[in-house]
Amino acid sequence: MELVGKSALEFDLYDGKGKLLYKKGETLSADTLLKLNYINIYRKTEGVAPKPKPVEVYSRPKPLIAEKTGNLLIKGSRGIFDGTFNGEALKYNECAEVSGIILNEVTEKYEKFHSVEQLRVFDEYTYSHNVNVSSISVLLGIKLGLKEPELEELAIGSFLHDIGKMKVPREILNKPAKLEKQEMVIMRSHTFLGYKHIKGTLDLPDRIARIALDHQEKFNGKGYPNGLTGEDINFYARITSIADVYDALVSTRVYKKGMHPHDAIGIILSEENASFSPEFLDKFIRLTQESETRDEEEGL
Ligand SMILES: [Fe+2]
Repeated sequence: MELVGKSALEFDLYDGKGKLLYKKGETLSADTLLKLNYINIYRKTEGVAPKPKPVEVYSRPKPLIAEKTGNLLIKGSRGIFDGTFNGEALKYNECAEVSGIILNEVTEKYEKFHSVEQLRVFDEYTYSHNVNVSSISVLLGIKLGLKEPELEELAIGSFLHDIGKMKVPREILNKPAKLEKQEMVIMRSHTFLGYKHIKGTLDLPDRIARIALDHQEKFNGKGYPNGLTGEDINFYARITSIADVYDALVSTRVYKKGMHPHDAIGIILSEENASFSPEFLDKFIRLTQESETRDEEEGL
């Protein structure tokens, strides 16, 4: 890459949406240069920002989760989330079965994956999102050096992070347009409602239930529901929030097409030091980079 080896930028750098990422004259660290490989960046002098790649031209890499296993995970997610929607209590065995499969799959495939996309499953977002956020959280957890007991906690807690959305009216949850102020208040209550539902129906330690409560908090204190900052935000929730935003960006929804993974990472990085733990974010980027390097090494 042309920029490597230069310490100060000779031009402003923008992301694919036209947002200024780095200013002319700014000194870029090796880590930043590394990250720039993953952003759809451009220089104003080069003209118009390249458009994010439409999902149609993105050839999805070969999945590593077998179709049968993927179907089983979706079925489990559907049963648990629909059950909550119908007013049922969570059942520990059902939740632990799904999160256990996720943990096994990700641990087993950690050395083999080339792209996070290979570990995502595809179905209705309401059900696939829970599975994918858990898988990506576990991936990041492994990268952060977590071991089995913590990974198990992370897997189940991140799988249930959005369970409170099942307590939000579906017309608000699936509204294909911007939410009104009052609707937004109801939508945001999913964090608290989820925490309460987990605490009320499962005998899990508070640190696991708090993933649901804290996953919308931002590192800079601008999140909700409590505006917590930095390490006051639950440890697992700081991991889950990165996985949550990534999966939301690359997923196709009723109102938008899924974004290319590189563009999604570009957006996540443009909020660097604001929304996410810089340390966890750095590991997430490295996770993506190392897995893709294997493609080159193996000539794929
Ligand atoms: Fe989510």
